[in-house]
Amino acid sequence: MTKLAIIYYSSTGTVHEMARRIAATAEAHDDVEVRLRHVAETAPDEAVNSQDAWQKHRADVIDEPIASPDDLDWADVALFGSPTRYGHVTSQLQGYIDTLGPLWAQGKLADKVYAGFTASQTHHGGQESTLLSLYTSFYHFGGIVVAPGYTDPLKFNDGNPYGAAKVTGASTELDENDLAALDHLVNRALAISRRLEAGGNGASRDDA
Ligand SMILES: Cc1cc2nc3c(=O)[nH]c(=O)nc-3n(C[C@H](O)[C@H](O)[C@H](O)COP(=O)(O)O)c2cc1C
Repeated sequence: MTKLAIIYYSSTGTVHEMARRIAATAEAHDDVEVRLRHVAETAPDEAVNSQDAWQKHRADVIDEPIASPDDLDWADVALFGSPTRYGHVTSQLQGYIDTLGPLWAQGKLADKVYAGFTASQTHHGGQESTLLSLYTSFYHFGGIVVAPGYTDPLKFNDGNPYGAAKVTGASTELDENDLAALDHLVNRALAISRRLEAGGNGASRDDA
C-alpha cells in the first residue's frame, strides 16, 4: 500500500474542496491508503467570525481530524494545500510545518514524495510563489518534489507546472480543468512513489 497524507488549510472552503477531490481520486486506487487532514485554525475567533464564509467553513470541519506530525511520519506521499496569503503560504499551514522539527531532526521527513496545491483570488495573485515557498520547506526535509510540469497535455489548460492551483475570482466551484489538474497531481505523485518503492530506474528509498 502507498500511504498518502493530504495536509491542508482552508479558510472558506476552496482548498478544502481541492483536498477532498485529491482524496477521492486517490481512494479510487486499490493500493492507496489516505489520510485527509486539515491543520489547526490559529486565527482568533474575532477574525474567523468577521467573515460569514470563514465562520461557516470552520463549523463545517470542526469534527474532522486535525493534522499531527504523525500523519506526515506515516506517509509515503504528502500533498500540502494552502490558499495564497499575499503570495505566500498561510500562517496556519506554516504553523503546522513549524511543529515538524523533531521529525526533521531524525531524518523522518526525507525520501517522501511531496507536491502542493493552492488557491488565490486572481491570476498572477501569487500561486507560483506560494507553491515555491512550500517547496522550499520540502527541500529542507530532503523530500522528493514531484512537480507536474507539463507532463500531460491537460497542464496546458490549467497552466501551472508547479502544482495544482485554483483561481477563485470568477467562481469558487472547481471546473473541469481544476479537477483534471488535481487528479493529475495526485496520480503522478503516487506513480512516482510506486516507482521508488519498486526500485525502478535504479533508485529506491532503501538506497538513500
Ligand atoms: C489575508 C488574505 C490575503 C490574501 N492574499 C491574496 C493574494 O495575495 N493574491 C490573491 O490572488 N488572493 C489572495 N487572497 C485570496 C485567497 O487566497 C483566496 O480567496 C483563496 O481562494 C481562499 O481559499 P480558501 O477558500 O480555501 O480559504 C487573500 C485572502 C486573504 C484573507
